[in-house]
Amino acid sequence: MMLKYAYIHTIGCQMNVYDSEQIANGLKTLGYQLTSSLETSDLIIVNTCSIREKAEQKVFSFLGRLDRLKGLKPELIIGVGGCVAQQEGAKLLERVPNVDLVFGTKAIGRLPGLVEKIAVKRCRIVDVKMPEKIEELNILSDAVDEKKVTRFVTIMQGCDNYCSYCVVPYVRGKEISRDPNRILDEIRNLVAAGVKEVTLLGQNVNSYGRKEGLSTFPRLLTQINDIEGLLRIRFTTSHPKDLSDDLMSAFRHLDKLCHHIHLPVQSGSNKILQRMNRKYSREIYLEKVDKLRNICPDIAITSDIIVGFPGETAHDFKSSLNLIRRVEFDGLYAFKYSDRPNAAATRFSQKIGEKEKKERLQQVLDLQDHYTTKKNKALEGSLQLILVEGLSKKQRKAGFQGKARDIQWTGRTSTNKAVNFFQNEDVASFTNITQGQEVHIRVIKAFSHSLWGEPVSVETIPIGLRGEESYVA
Ligand code: SAH
Ligand code: SF4
Ligand code: F3S
Repeated sequence: MMLKYAYIHTIGCQMNVYDSEQIANGLKTLGYQLTSSLETSDLIIVNTCSIREKAEQKVFSFLGRLDRLKGLKPELIIGVGGCVAQQEGAKLLERVPNVDLVFGTKAIGRLPGLVEKIAVKRCRIVDVKMPEKIEELNILSDAVDEKKVTRFVTIMQGCDNYCSYCVVPYVRGKEISRDPNRILDEIRNLVAAGVKEVTLLGQNVNSYGRKEGLSTFPRLLTQINDIEGLLRIRFTTSHPKDLSDDLMSAFRHLDKLCHHIHLPVQSGSNKILQRMNRKYSREIYLEKVDKLRNICPDIAITSDIIVGFPGETAHDFKSSLNLIRRVEFDGLYAFKYSDRPNAAATRFSQKIGEKEKKERLQQVLDLQDHYTTKKNKALEGSLQLILVEGLSKKQRKAGFQGKARDIQWTGRTSTNKAVNFFQNEDVASFTNITQGQEVHIRVIKAFSHSLWGEPVSVETIPIGLRGEESYVA
């Protein structure tokens, strides 16, 4: 087999990151090796996102940049996959002449065959079929060349919730859960390859297995918790309406489950929540937050908010700000509402102007900044158990240079806070810090989006507290 190079450009959520890894696995069987250089590639795949207008625009600007390359190298194959591909189908071929292949969100298993056909016949193909069952790739994911200690695992596809602003049910299809045994096999395989932490992915993981009667999410978590060698489990996203008592108590019972939940609220106004078709009220949301904190006092809670949803008055917007003040989220992703194809809210009246949306977004960001900083500051002086994910961004850029104590590492706390630290030569047990190791860190300084700390030798920690996720010294 002749060695060929593939470049994969991923836009969008973690599910797309996982899908891109599956795409890489499939391409490997055709002899493609991943490259980070567009110029040397024989195949370019863009894995796309349609969640907001801006994400969709990114796809077309990236494709536009490929015109020159295709001009220089006509045999180059350009494929567009993911949510915009699913949404646009054959229209994409018309709109972007340099594209050879459009493959939808359910076509990843068929991708190797499609690419092969194009390479031989030099034809253009559109495959946006939406079968109602999961077509598993028969290759267990290990093809990602970069060794990582933390990986995503998709446990379900699609969504049945039809929130009125959202394109996902149209581009990812109906909710389907994967067989628990396949998920467990995949995670065992990742652990055997050195992975220490998995993040389970689904649009609404709380309803995992419910439709199929396969299992439940808390049961799946318990089985994953039993996998030897795995240190940490995370998941995203939880829909507040389906957050059950069983799942909440998993934060108390499962030792590997990290103390963080992403629980998108979207709005603090009951009128808007109803128009969004979210099926919970502000009061129910707050009740669940209180319950979670009761069960797991140090749990970090993050969320998503949409500003400027059609019909959102100044009063409704104030309710969102008040909710942010009441909950004090550890982190918040805020978005300006944008119309999406097929989504019901696109047809709603009382649209909010761009200027107003921008102002509301800024207010949310400013308010949240205050709480993010406050939460991080509260950790100054505390000891945290972190999983070392690798060299810090700065260090990766600079490469290994200088003395061991100048090497800067990065990891995360159970509560998902990023911590950077220098290897500490003075502490004998830390001269050999490695990726994938859990290390106690004393937090020295908090910044708005990360913490700075130093490793602490385990011998200095009281015996009863060794291995504890965090305690204030
Ligand atoms: N399944 C997840 C959300 C996935 S989309 C859930 O239900 O929580 C990620 C986030 O994008 C959403 O939480 C929402 O805040 C935002 N979003 C989705 N559609 C949007 C739109 N049309 N305009 C602005 N933000 C949107
Ligand atoms: Fe979209 Fe709602 Fe489904 Fe989340 S739950 S993916 S916001 S429709
Ligand atoms: Fe985007 Fe599709 Fe994910 S629309 S957010 S890539 S499910």
